[in-house]
Amino acid sequence: MAEPTDPPAEDGGPSQDPFPSSDFDPWAETYDRDVIAQDKFPFDGYERALDTVVSLAAPRAGMSVLDLGTGTGNLAARFARAGCELWCTDFSPAMLNKARLKLASARFVLHDLRGPWPAVLERRFDRIVSAYVLHHFDLGEKVNLCRRLATSHLMPEGRLVIADISFRDAVAMEDFFRSIGDRWEAEPYWLADDSVTALKAAGLSVEYTSVSGCAGVYSLSQAAQLHARK
Ligand SMILES: C[S@@+](CC[C@H](N)C(=O)[O-])C[C@H]1O[C@@H](n2cnc3c(N)ncnc32)[C@H](O)[C@@H]1O
Repeated sequence: MAEPTDPPAEDGGPSQDPFPSSDFDPWAETYDRDVIAQDKFPFDGYERALDTVVSLAAPRAGMSVLDLGTGTGNLAARFARAGCELWCTDFSPAMLNKARLKLASARFVLHDLRGPWPAVLERRFDRIVSAYVLHHFDLGEKVNLCRRLATSHLMPEGRLVIADISFRDAVAMEDFFRSIGDRWEAEPYWLADDSVTALKAAGLSVEYTSVSGCAGVYSLSQAAQLHARK
């Protein structure tokens, strides 16, 4: 995974970050209008995906919940309504400012998921959740991050629940894009068959729930042998 500080390019200048936080700052203003009640790619099923995260996470009042890439706080707000204590991270200051308006008592951390883990989050959580963030990461990066979160930042009985752009497999993805006549941006979207296999090989228990033609939710926990090794 790339470090937040760009390594020098061959000409001595900084290399180009394909996903800088500055790409997301201007979106903060219109984000909620763009996603809520959407029925088109990439947000077809957005509200259902967030509701599915909550249902699979089964929050209870007082639980600690870390929301990674919180954006304007739509997922975190559902957990706040359930009485959870929220920690919300994002690398876009403008997105975090929007989330602050919805989440009066949450703690906010400006953090790039590609960089070192912040000291303030050096603890374990009852639930770690994320929505529509990790599709920028290739499969190896997704798996490494999930494994690290499960082993170092989840309570032993904790759960990591991730909603994102996701297809059953590469054929389903191609069929989907053909059906809508658009490729949007080619990104390493989640392919459930490959992802579940790789996550299980990394020692995680995984359940996949398809939510729409382009969205799905991964519910992960530590498999027994990871528990035993700690
Ligand atoms: C599509 S929005 C999703 C926001 C929110 N989770 C939701 O479901 O509405 C993606 C969010 O992830 C954040 N993000 C993208 N890449 C990130 C990274 N490497 N580290 C931290 N945040 C990131 C963006 O700033 C943006 O707020």
